[in-house]
Amino acid sequence: MSEVTAGLPDDFFWGVATSAYQIEGAWDVDGRGLSIWDTFSRRPGAVANGENGDVACDHYNRMPADVELIASLGVSTYRFSVSWPRVQPGGRGPVNSRGLDFYSRLVDALLEKGVDPWLTLYHWDLPQELEDAGGWPLRDTAYRFQEYAGLVHDALGDRVRTWTTLNEPWCSTMLGYESGRHAPGRTNFSEAMRAVHHLLLGHGLAARELRSRGVSSLGITLNMGSHSAASDDPADVDAARVADGLGTRIYMDPLVFGRYPADVVADLAARGVSLPVVDGDLAVISTPLDVVGVNYYTSHVHSGGGVVSQGLPVTAMGWEIVPEGFTSLLLRLQRDYGVPLVITENGAAFDDLVVEDGRVVDLDRVSYLSSHISAVAAAVRGGADVRGYLAWSLMDNFEWGYGYGKRFGLVAVDYSSQERVLKQSAVWYRDLISRGRS
Ligand code: FCB
Repeated sequence: MSEVTAGLPDDFFWGVATSAYQIEGAWDVDGRGLSIWDTFSRRPGAVANGENGDVACDHYNRMPADVELIASLGVSTYRFSVSWPRVQPGGRGPVNSRGLDFYSRLVDALLEKGVDPWLTLYHWDLPQELEDAGGWPLRDTAYRFQEYAGLVHDALGDRVRTWTTLNEPWCSTMLGYESGRHAPGRTNFSEAMRAVHHLLLGHGLAARELRSRGVSSLGITLNMGSHSAASDDPADVDAARVADGLGTRIYMDPLVFGRYPADVVADLAARGVSLPVVDGDLAVISTPLDVVGVNYYTSHVHSGGGVVSQGLPVTAMGWEIVPEGFTSLLLRLQRDYGVPLVITENGAAFDDLVVEDGRVVDLDRVSYLSSHISAVAAAVRGGADVRGYLAWSLMDNFEWGYGYGKRFGLVAVDYSSQERVLKQSAVWYRDLISRGRS
């Protein structure tokens, strides 16, 4: 076993991840409805260079070849998301079977190659009609999500083992409804907090729906990092507490313990904001989970005046590279919550260096992945129950508000020809996986 993976269990699994809007394209074919990202990306200034996901990686049309590519990496797991408006165009009512068939073919193709499909129901692409009706600040959206989960399960439940309800509700709420940097681009903290509760309720309702149908590998994915205080100064300590409260505990506490953290609720009350909890909701939200998916990119040090840069090297996103924060996050999740964990995303954007023969020598990405996989192994040696690692991302794709300029892929995509070329990091990852097998 290599030093990087020392201590990981024999059945530790490896994979790659993507999401629907970021790769599929084919935005207006086979009866797909509009999502909030179709609308938001057309708003002037919302996305760098006015880009959008209309074509993206054209994965909808190139899926069979992309599955070959996935299999060629030797991964055992592929995490993808289902586009809600492709399956149920207006977010309510009957299914669009042409859209659903795409995922059925994808799942079959993966299984044929011996790759386990890991399905995420919601990676941010809310049907626009549901946003027009009120979006996640509206309670009804949670019930619509439960219905959608059932429809997808009707079609794929016989073949898909692992189901994730939501990807990163923090981004949906804080970026979508508070800062407005993501779709739907609203800027209202109180609405963001209503969205927190209704996303969690939607998760719980969908989890119950899936459980009642016999799903036994069920989870949610959260983006998390370590939050520490710049000093003992009470203002710094409080800033770290608040960031951890709104970033991690406001999700993990209700999911695992069935209650919102008292300090967060008090902070909200001080701002005149409350979570729209109805009796019985927290029991639904705390439906037992088999796995919590962890998406880790960076960690933050806080002071009363905001996030303090540590002067560390950064990725092309400007995010500091902090593998130690990954280890401490995983150990902390183990200690405070004791749930099985899978890394559902980890990776980095860099300005990839293309050498003459078209090869991408992305040594900075190799080094990022290597140090972060080592950090996972260190957490496992320290007692964290981490079962697998899925790299973000299979290939370069539409990086939300940053458009196509930020490249997270192990595989390079030439957007003019849609040609895919393995970067050095893909070869490195493939070799790491195959060494573990032998
Ligand atoms: C995460 C998202 C994913 C991707 C990475 C870089 O927050 O889940 O879609 O954009 O960041």
